Amino acid sequence: MAKTLYLETFGCQMNVLDSELVLGQLRGQGYVATDDRDTADVVIFNTCSVREHAEQKVWSRLGQLRDRKAADPNFVLGVIGCMAEREGAEIFKRNPHIDILCGPAELDKLPGMVQNAVTTAGGRNVISDRRHVALMGNSVRRSSTLQVARDDLEMLDLSRAVSPGDDLSQAYVRITRGCNKFCTYCVVPHTRGPEVHRPPQNIIDEVRKLVDAGAKEVTLLGQTINHYAFDHSDGRRTTFADLLYAVHEATPDLPRLRFVTSFPRDFSDEALDAMRDCERICRYLHAPAQHGNNRLLKLMNRGYSIEQYREFVDRARERMPDIAIVSDFIVGFPTETDEEFEQCCDIVRYAKFKQSFIFKYSPRPGTVAIDRFEDDIPEDVKRARNNRLLAVQGEVIAENNAALVGQTIEVMVEGESKLVSRRAKATGVELGAGFGGTARSSGPEETVDTQLVGRTRGDQIVVFDGDLSLKGGLVNVAIDRASQMTLFGRRVAEAAVV
Ligand code: SAH
Ligand code: SF4
Ligand code: F3S
Repeated sequence: MAKTLYLETFGCQMNVLDSELVLGQLRGQGYVATDDRDTADVVIFNTCSVREHAEQKVWSRLGQLRDRKAADPNFVLGVIGCMAEREGAEIFKRNPHIDILCGPAELDKLPGMVQNAVTTAGGRNVISDRRHVALMGNSVRRSSTLQVARDDLEMLDLSRAVSPGDDLSQAYVRITRGCNKFCTYCVVPHTRGPEVHRPPQNIIDEVRKLVDAGAKEVTLLGQTINHYAFDHSDGRRTTFADLLYAVHEATPDLPRLRFVTSFPRDFSDEALDAMRDCERICRYLHAPAQHGNNRLLKLMNRGYSIEQYREFVDRARERMPDIAIVSDFIVGFPTETDEEFEQCCDIVRYAKFKQSFIFKYSPRPGTVAIDRFEDDIPEDVKRARNNRLLAVQGEVIAENNAALVGQTIEVMVEGESKLVSRRAKATGVELGAGFGGTARSSGPEETVDTQLVGRTRGDQIVVFDGDLSLKGGLVNVAIDRASQMTLFGRRVAEAAVV
């Protein structure tokens, strides 16, 4: 009988993509994915180390599985991803019931490790009394063995198997691995290793493969994506702008192309021009400011001043007045004063961010910040600053959304609005009630208008009436009103302005 696999993913889009690749490989070995952790033959956690909270979730999952392993030694438990890399073999001390440990740079070897663990678990394989299998080493490989690791990993991305039945609503394609920035608070350069750029043709082929399999939106991934640059053996260089044009041209049948995450420094005019000129590239920039104060930006080693950040926002808005810019912030970084924190609120207002992801500083082992600075901002102050910044961001969202009322916007239809179907289920009301909807009961032949949900090129959620057959297509919606999270409108024939 086929072995079953439970794979749970934490962390960023890179991990989501890694999980997809790992799942593809293990399926190729005959494993069948299951949602039932308690009966799965193999359980794998793909982990994140970026904040302590992310790790705590995994520690607690591991604790829950201790009894299962004691009762069933044949069951195989794996920890992969950033936490595996950061913790290393130390993890076995607290958790001897883990069988497999595999960092992000070694994932191409995971199928072999799983196979090995399955045959040795329970002590059936007398040849190998070393039950634990661990492979890390990404971060130390800033040297000669790097090329081999790169090529092997490249094979993993290239092995991606997509078929028309797959859920391609969120299709990710990596263009850059790792990060060279070493922001003082961040584990990512330690867990993901140095920046490596994939060959452009491999990226184009992968996007093409996804589009052929039905992807309507592809998101290119990199930690500092705009730093992409590939040097060919003949001396030519493909820049990020070149790559955007090339992918856009190679996929005229892809409605939407997006990319994350941008680093606010060194975002070239050419890349902004590419966004402006290519009609199917989303008008969306996730470019985390992290802070609004120069002293803090320096302590964080971000490598730009807030004036430079503003200049970047200005250059983007000059070309694309409607562009949605999204930020991350860390509040409560060591020594941050109230006044310095307040400047985060200023940049939110200045940049009119579409959204901000706000995090309380979490000291991470192995980073410069944990060694150099005491985590001296009390938790309640961190929380208060977090809430204050959220409130300011909320005001900005309300203003941004109000400005969209009356406009006609291009929307990619994602499906039935959950908001409405959930409400309808809970209360038994007819679809659309309370949302200005026009749902009606119908015979089998009749098309049913229901509440649909979709997204704008700036990633705004839009709810409107329409037929489910529109799913996956682009429609124009006139916006009638807006709430904090959602725009509401109706389909119109006229061309979208945004
Ligand atoms: N490469 C992206 C960010 C990747 S990590 C960039 O440079 O913009 C995602 C976010 O987690 C970061 O933007 C930062 O806001 C947050 N983060 C990273 N390390 C953190 C830490 N130690 N404590 C709190 N938040 C952190
Ligand atoms: Fe971390 Fe900074 Fe690299 Fe982003 S740019 S992944 S915050 S080190
Ligand atoms: Fe987390 Fe690793 Fe991503 S630390 S944010 S999963 S790169």
